[in-house]
Amino acid sequence: MKCRLPLFLGFMAAILPLPVVATENVHLSIDASKPGARIDRNVFGQFAENLGHGLYEGIWVGPDSPIPNTRGIRNDVVAALRELKVPNVRWPGGCFADQYHWRKGIGPRDKRPATVNSAWGDVIDSNAFGTDEFMDFIQQIGSTPYVSVDVGAGTPQEAAEWLEYMTAAAPTALAKERAANGHPEPYKVGFLGIGNESWDCGGAMTPDYYVSQMKVYSRFVLNMNPAQRVKDQMLKIAVGPGTPDTEWTEAVMKAWEKHTWAWDINGVSLHWYTVPNGWPPSTNSEKFGLDDYAKTLKSTLFMDEFLRKQEAVMDKYDPERKVTLTVDEWGAWHAPLAGSNPAFLVQQNSIRDAILASLNLNIFARHADRVRMANIAQMINVLQAMILTDKEKLVLTPTYYVFKMYVPFQDATFVPVSMDAGAFTQGGISLPRVDAIAAKVADRKLLLEITNLDAENPVSIDADMPGITAKSASAETLTGAAVDSINTFASPNTVVPKPTAVKIRDGKLSLTVAPRSVTIVSIEP
Ligand code: AHR
Repeated sequence: MKCRLPLFLGFMAAILPLPVVATENVHLSIDASKPGARIDRNVFGQFAENLGHGLYEGIWVGPDSPIPNTRGIRNDVVAALRELKVPNVRWPGGCFADQYHWRKGIGPRDKRPATVNSAWGDVIDSNAFGTDEFMDFIQQIGSTPYVSVDVGAGTPQEAAEWLEYMTAAAPTALAKERAANGHPEPYKVGFLGIGNESWDCGGAMTPDYYVSQMKVYSRFVLNMNPAQRVKDQMLKIAVGPGTPDTEWTEAVMKAWEKHTWAWDINGVSLHWYTVPNGWPPSTNSEKFGLDDYAKTLKSTLFMDEFLRKQEAVMDKYDPERKVTLTVDEWGAWHAPLAGSNPAFLVQQNSIRDAILASLNLNIFARHADRVRMANIAQMINVLQAMILTDKEKLVLTPTYYVFKMYVPFQDATFVPVSMDAGAFTQGGISLPRVDAIAAKVADRKLLLEITNLDAENPVSIDADMPGITAKSASAETLTGAAVDSINTFASPNTVVPKPTAVKIRDGKLSLTVAPRSVTIVSIEP
């Protein structure tokens, strides 16, 4: 019996291939002598819509809650978000924005009317989280507001008055109302969204109809703080497409080329979700296998082609790239979690989502001269969230850690990386084995990000770095035991970044990156 077992295993190994861990090698050439565009920190923006438990419970628990809070805003969420240096937050929607009437959300909370959130599940909205609460949240996390005004169900006058309420520096009636509500100082509004998906939930408009609306809103919805008109100007973002055809972008950019003193826009938005099986979203966000992993990553890489198509149109009308392409909704949209309200868009968040996030951030970095703003959907408890909460509990997702690891890339200067990435093939889908970007930070430090898409094999990386004399380096990696590894309330540290060994010898860098991982290397000259 003793000798039969090994013999049997040997026989099985001959017919059943045992998992083989093969370390592939990829060589990178990082040309630090050819810096490119600045990777705008606003590319790391977030989106917080009044949807499901994104705002209510996710951010707002109210001042009387037993959950520790500051003026009704969760302290644990604020502390976690401060670590991300969130550059801007888009609010109140999404589809919700085109039905939001801001006046219902100001003044004493016990006097605010209850309304119905007909965009998301027809739930009752207490309007407790309104303009002043949003601005308080923004101030607590140290970010900048990106406010989307109601073009669908609202009017230019309503939006103009909202801007006056938020930004008027002079003692107008609305500025006095703001002061009476506790904020004498004008708020800073960094970005103004003129509607949302106006071709669909925002009013099913034609491109030409939208362009007429856009001009009127741009003309009359003004920042009323002279200080912000001169310096740190509020940027106006027009609605852009949600499908790769270019008709909408053509209409907006053609109008922009001929804009007069009376109106202007600074950006055109674009929405692109990773929905590998098409609508309605059907991929599982937990308990999935390698084929689903590969299919999802393949689908997310389409972002690059989508951007190229829109950029080609924008370049035609704006060769100097003054108008930014703002990807103000992106991320994985999976099937709703079993047992959740399908209108609340609740999903789990795995190492697959983390890799998907890094691939998109890398694409944005490669398009940095046109893509100067982006907002992942969404911040808390909705779609590809940073944070999941359940009453007093909170867990940081793998996507949260990607955003944390990328903080040093905010406003860094893109540096080209060339490589032969090899291929990772799974279920008939072939993907680049490795993706990488590099950037220089002000103090001449070089940053390198390496995503290993290979689900099963580590990759050994070696890099030469013309343009910098590297002396030392450190690295950290985010990975999970399987492609569907997640963090849970019970096990919050399953997928967290950990230090990784990296060597510099004769100015060349070498390290081995784990399968299914995101690695950031900091290289000191
Ligand atoms: O993020 C969820 C929804 O997706 C947004 O409200 C809408 O703009 C998009 O269709």
